[in-house]
Amino acid sequence: MDNEIRRQIDEAAEQLREMLIEQYERNERLAAAAKRAGGAGGDAGCGDADKKTVIGLAPGDGIGPVIMDETKAVLKMLLRDELESGRVEFKEITGFTLEERLAAGETVPKGVLEQMDCCDVILKGPTTTPNAAMGGKNLESANVFLRKRFDLFANVRPVSVPEEGIDWTFYRENTEGEYALGSRGIRLGKEAGDGLSVDFKVITGEGTRRIAKAAFDFARANGKKRVSIVTKANIMKKTDGDFQTICLDVARDYPEIETDTWFVDIMAANLVNKDIRSGFEVFVLPNLYGDIITDEAAQIQGGVGTAGSANIGTDMAMFEAIHGSAPRMVSDGIAHLANPASLMTAAVMMLRHIGLTEKAAVLEAAVKKADDMLGARMTGLPGGAGCAEFAGIVKENI
Ligand code: IPM
Ligand code: MG
Repeated sequence: MDNEIRRQIDEAAEQLREMLIEQYERNERLAAAAKRAGGAGGDAGCGDADKKTVIGLAPGDGIGPVIMDETKAVLKMLLRDELESGRVEFKEITGFTLEERLAAGETVPKGVLEQMDCCDVILKGPTTTPNAAMGGKNLESANVFLRKRFDLFANVRPVSVPEEGIDWTFYRENTEGEYALGSRGIRLGKEAGDGLSVDFKVITGEGTRRIAKAAFDFARANGKKRVSIVTKANIMKKTDGDFQTICLDVARDYPEIETDTWFVDIMAANLVNKDIRSGFEVFVLPNLYGDIITDEAAQIQGGVGTAGSANIGTDMAMFEAIHGSAPRMVSDGIAHLANPASLMTAAVMMLRHIGLTEKAAVLEAAVKKADDMLGARMTGLPGGAGCAEFAGIVKENI
């Protein structure tokens, strides 16, 4: 081993030490906050009927502006009274395109964060993660950054296929796991292939307790009978092992709910096993498994273009499509064929979150109608049906 590698190891050890302190202190802050809140986890919502709710609209990149334009038009129609009375205000977030982020050299420029700080909730289109090949810095994913910045710890992703009896709700931990330090891994050697690389996965006690509580509280409040804990605790013994132990510990406060534990590989198989899949109800998973399993689940529902996603924290919530910005659809000239159902479904979750439950139900039914009529043709491929056509049916049904 040459001296240069020894130097890199020393530097890495120091970096690891700093990251451990940082993450340990984060857990302490979470624990103190949970104590102050009397152990309550999750955003109680801003559903106060008289309170004004500021909804930030951030279109994002790629197909983002296409699906956001249609979703915004639908929301304007649906919320005409609320917008007129001032119960709801839209705030267009500017400066958040890939080009602007690259130019600023920041994942999310300060000016964008300042605008977001003035919002109660955000409806966000997909954002492209900048990489060095795009002529700027190798920046962190904006999604990941925002989830951490606003501490949006619960990523809630519902998937339903009524005709098959599927009604799943995923509680994906949203701020930890492989994502906590994902941009801060260590490589020994000059470049890929030279030596070795290490990334880190972080599970904190408090971070796990709060996502578990959120999942079980949801189950209890919605008459669900079963919560499934998904990990790879047989291999990732410390992180996933502790995640599973803590979830099981939280489960003891919910004796009426059946709890089971699964490894993520067999759960991936279970979801395509028609004999058993409709028996699952609520899932709680660490971040990366939640990412992967929810794409699979969305595909079972009809494609990632059909699924919405809520990122819920204590003081802020952000709603988005579960898919990415699909730059290939843009470069192939077929961005107009993007399915807006994902963002509209996210908007349904947002309306519910801010207390507009009736409006949420209207939008949900209208999106379902459009999906029944057009869903099979929303392929995102040449010859498929278009975003505007889909939105047209939604509007007719509001
Ligand atoms: C998601 C996405 C993001 C994630 C990407 C865009 C960073 O896949 O919301 O599931 O990995 O969480
Ligand atoms: Mg994903």
